[in-house]
Amino acid sequence: MIDSLTGGHSLTKVLLTGGAGFIGSHTSLALLESGHQVVVMDDFSNGSAEALRRVAELTGLGPWRQDATDHWSASAPVGGSLTLIRGDVRSQQDLDRAFQDGNGGISAVLHFAGLKAVGESMAEPLRYWDVNVTGTVRLLEAMGRHGCQTLVFSSSATLYGTTDTVPIPETAPLQPINPYGYTKAAVERMLTDVASSAPGWRIALLRYFNPVGAHPSGRIGEDPSGRPNNLFPFLCQVAAGCRQQLEVFGGDWPTGDGTGVRDYLHVMDLAEGHGRALGLLQAEPPQLLTLNLGSGQGHSVLELLRTFETTNGLTLPYAVVERRPGDSAVSVADPSQAERRMGWRTRRSLADICRDGWAWQRANPQGYRSAGPQPAPELIGAQHGS
Ligand code: UD1
Repeated sequence: MIDSLTGGHSLTKVLLTGGAGFIGSHTSLALLESGHQVVVMDDFSNGSAEALRRVAELTGLGPWRQDATDHWSASAPVGGSLTLIRGDVRSQQDLDRAFQDGNGGISAVLHFAGLKAVGESMAEPLRYWDVNVTGTVRLLEAMGRHGCQTLVFSSSATLYGTTDTVPIPETAPLQPINPYGYTKAAVERMLTDVASSAPGWRIALLRYFNPVGAHPSGRIGEDPSGRPNNLFPFLCQVAAGCRQQLEVFGGDWPTGDGTGVRDYLHVMDLAEGHGRALGLLQAEPPQLLTLNLGSGQGHSVLELLRTFETTNGLTLPYAVVERRPGDSAVSVADPSQAERRMGWRTRRSLADICRDGWAWQRANPQGYRSAGPQPAPELIGAQHGS
């Protein structure tokens, strides 16, 4: 099979930590569509088994089976298979189970599991260091035990802090400004040390800009718990009538219309970027690769709002309020390295993002809870005490 997702490179069995979350579920789908076997380990702190059930449905896998303990799976007679295991990245036992699932053979890990809310990271720094940093230490130890040396890590443009550089290349100084950002920087540092400690490591650090939107089917999308911190999910909830109005954080930034400018990329473009990174790591000699994943285009808050309104035929209430502490005026990627190294660039427009994001939100106003009661995590993990 010629695989356009990984650039024609070999199809393998891969483990996605945090694969039931927003980016992980979309990446699972993209990898399954190209014939990979996907094993997901997730603790469901910010992810949903229902997301993966829908991924199985969208990719035409057989029925979703749940066993007596903590295991779901679906497969097709030819091609891909999807397995979901409840587990915590800090637990060696859970990691060993994930690596051994389906008789082992995991050749690469995509590490999405982690906490990502800036405000929460300032209130609970230890939890962030524990999950994001200790979790990655445990994962690397497990990879060592299971002979796996290929890793794609979810890093973030948050590492660049409040820089004035536009667009931002990977060589820009790293100057995170909150515990969430410090943990991402620490993991990047740790992975760099690991890569130089022994031959054979193939590691990609993918620095995401602002991933938004949803799969065009409207079946899977972003499902934040509680009040969304980020602009796009908040906008979607205003459109759905779940929130009264959008608060625009600052109208006096030094930008075209005074509102903050960001680099929004469609989550399916991001998912495909992971497939490309995996293909590149597998095809080339061992290396450590650092790439920005963004569109290279900046859009202001008001531009995003107007595009959402025009694309979806809606008018949304908003008010300009104070700036949010820690924000910067502009954050836009220089994505040229991703194109040069792995032939990846975003293909979907801001209008595509708005159309697909709204299709998801409209069909699932309460996120995956709209589908009815969820399997209780304690039942899923009844056999092991993580
Ligand atoms: C934020 C985080 C960043 C994290 C990223 C992805 C902060 C300071 N930064 O990035 O570390 O990596 O999310 O999780 O929290 N806005 C509004 N109204 C809102 C929400 C946002 O006007 O209700 C504005 C912001 O000021 C900004 C833009 O919308 O100009 C995008 O904000 P957001 O979606 O939160 O992303 P970032 O701030 O880029």
